[in-house]
Amino acid sequence: MPGPGAFWVGEEEKKAIAEVLDSQYLFRFGDVNNPKFLQKTAELEREVEKQFHCGYALATTSGTASLLSSLFAIGIKPGDEVIVPAYTYLATYTAVIFLGGVPVLTEVDDSLTIDPEEIKKKITPKTKAILPVHMLGNPANMDAILDIAKEHGLKVVEDSCQAVGATYRGKNAGTIGDVGAMSLNFFKTITTGEGGMVVTNNAEYYERAFEFHHQGTPSEREGTKNLGIIGINFRSNEVTAAFALAQLAKLPALVTRLHYVKDKFKGYLSQIPGLKFRTLNDERGESAAVCVVELDSAEETKKIGALLGTGPIQESGWHVYSNMDHINAFLKEHGQPYGYGAYPRTDDLMSRTIALSVGVVDAGLGAGFGVNVLSTDEEIEAVARQFEEAYRKVKNEQ
Ligand SMILES: Cc1ncc(COP(=O)(O)O)c(C=O)c1O
Repeated sequence: MPGPGAFWVGEEEKKAIAEVLDSQYLFRFGDVNNPKFLQKTAELEREVEKQFHCGYALATTSGTASLLSSLFAIGIKPGDEVIVPAYTYLATYTAVIFLGGVPVLTEVDDSLTIDPEEIKKKITPKTKAILPVHMLGNPANMDAILDIAKEHGLKVVEDSCQAVGATYRGKNAGTIGDVGAMSLNFFKTITTGEGGMVVTNNAEYYERAFEFHHQGTPSEREGTKNLGIIGINFRSNEVTAAFALAQLAKLPALVTRLHYVKDKFKGYLSQIPGLKFRTLNDERGESAAVCVVELDSAEETKKIGALLGTGPIQESGWHVYSNMDHINAFLKEHGQPYGYGAYPRTDDLMSRTIALSVGVVDAGLGAGFGVNVLSTDEEIEAVARQFEEAYRKVKNEQ
């Protein structure tokens, strides 16, 4: 099951793709003097810069590609430590590892994003950057993170893959730190099936990210003489970019719809005595992709989840460090805490929270139960009542 943008795929996307197919220009570079070359990738990048109020945007093949390009852009090298949350999708860790860096895991707080106080304890002479992740559409506590980064001379790369369309204190998530990575995969706010964006306000970081994503080449076809870096191919293409432009045009309305659905859903859930919600660092700024409820014990969370065909966030394997055996093996090898129990506060929160879908319907994220952007008001109320029934049943059994 997909993210909100996928529910809204329609004629606009079909038309956008058909135009590119008719043009027969599929590569992002081409003869700009030929009117048949529509330059959709470049148009997408300019549109993202406009819509997200940032200096530079770069289209890539995925969120993972964007993270790697962003970390390369700020100069992450073998042996560098990057501070990351213990709750995130595994690509946050693999991006650091692929550049030879070491992800230094850190507890999350009850916003389910990295705890700034814990970041301070993780800084060593090898630390080069902080990589906050705006998990489940909720921006991390960026003010506190930027203060720590400034004090210690660290760079900040935002993993905004799950928070496209979110804002934090009026700024677009992804554009607040030095560089930001976004994902356009099937489960994200807007989608192209697979895809990504790098955003930054720093010209040098943009140039490094561009060269990295284009085989070390600073512009279309520079040749291979005097290239300064060894790059890779993370280039997007004209079909994907045209699709992305159609989705991007829908983003403001999608986020408005997500907030409408969430306000209604959470409104009903808030009537359940004793039910708590995770902390939101910017209540109106989050992308409202999910509604996270926090319960009193791991046992009751499991039971309520089972009645609804879902489970605690702990069971969303790709997103919880303790479930990632290969990453834990890497951490062990590099002298870092690893395995269940290494981050007890995160373990406890993961075992007592359920992500109810509002727009992202994804069992892999732990959000297999809930509503979506197409749900009617009646359906939203019915799903909230279904949750309430399961909650009361489990509470009464105790
Ligand atoms: C927090 C986070 N970071 C990175 C990624 C990687 O994005 P992609 O799947 O587009 O490579 C994802 C995607 O699920 C994610 O949720």
